[in-house]
Amino acid sequence: MHVLVTGGAGFIGSHTAVALLERGHRVTIADDFQNSSPKVIDRIEQITGTRPGLAAVDLLDEEAFDAAFASASPDAVIHFAGLKAVGESVADPLRYYAHNLGSTFSLLKTMKRHGVRSLVFSSSATVYGDQQDPPYREDGGRLDATNPYGMTKVMLERILSDVAESEGGWHIGLLRYFNPIGAHPSGLIGEDPNGIPNNLAPYILQVAVGRLPEVNIFGDDYATADGTGERDYIHVADLAEGHVAALEKLSAVEGARAWNLGTGAGTSVRQMIAAFEAASGHPIPAIVRPRREGDLPRSWADTTRAASELGWTASRSIADMARDGWRWQSQNPNGFAD
Ligand code: UD1
Repeated sequence: MHVLVTGGAGFIGSHTAVALLERGHRVTIADDFQNSSPKVIDRIEQITGTRPGLAAVDLLDEEAFDAAFASASPDAVIHFAGLKAVGESVADPLRYYAHNLGSTFSLLKTMKRHGVRSLVFSSSATVYGDQQDPPYREDGGRLDATNPYGMTKVMLERILSDVAESEGGWHIGLLRYFNPIGAHPSGLIGEDPNGIPNNLAPYILQVAVGRLPEVNIFGDDYATADGTGERDYIHVADLAEGHVAALEKLSAVEGARAWNLGTGAGTSVRQMIAAFEAASGHPIPAIVRPRREGDLPRSWADTTRAASELGWTASRSIADMARDGWRWQSQNPNGFAD
């Protein structure tokens, strides 16, 4: 299949491009490099021996995007492009709604014009909001979110489902990721956050490599095994393979269908720090701080639907995630910057 990967130079997009190429699919990446580096394209070629096609275009520029789409002429789209920083979305909600919704509208209109109706959408476990207890099930209740970034995912899942309902022929997968971390085992691609990381794993890595002094543990008084927050961390290479599995099963889906991509197990902040200490061989100092507003105590996936319908389960361990994350960080202490 020829797959257009929007946001394909980003963290999850680049790993998915690698997984697609390794399965023999053709890949064209559409990325405006707003939050990613063009170097990623070279690295994907280094890993796979195949250079993906590239459309350096902003999806919001409908005319330019339409021309790029026409020239690539893909069979299907995996849509990662979007803004994803929770704090930023609270500070500037209008930017988040305009960007994430607007770029998806442009994509959908373009796909319709060109008669392409197979789409895998990058959603998030954030759509489960704070109303349920883990494990989260795809059909567990009404979707909700606690911040504008999360609301863009809730809204887009609804919009995509409405589009799929409105006319036949659409095949749409809504992939709800839990906490993607780790990196490609080559150490050539990985997560490269802007500024000080918001998320736990990239923060721990920057402490391990000496860029930051200590990890802030946001609360150790939760009702969890060691009092710190528990999350379902998933290796980005497992997640990438989940996208390939969804894409290959998409023709069996009439309309839109949601799948969780997680491991089904929770790991605490303290357990994560210990895993990265073991992987890096560096001490990782940590200090307990107050809880972060909006954080849940525990979150992990019910993985039965993805296992039975996609034939996919995550196979890599927390130790694998820490080892591969550390290899990426230690080989590229400043990410993709020179
Ligand atoms: C966060 C977002 C979520 C988004 C996801 C993307 C919030 C409230 N949630 O999820 O909407 O989809 O990232 O990956 O921002 N922690 C620390 N110290 C840190 C950072 C985190 O102790 O410096 C703790 C948190 O309290 C939490 C766990 O580590 O228990 C994981 O945090 P994080 O990596 O930010 O992910 P989520 O909060 O699950």
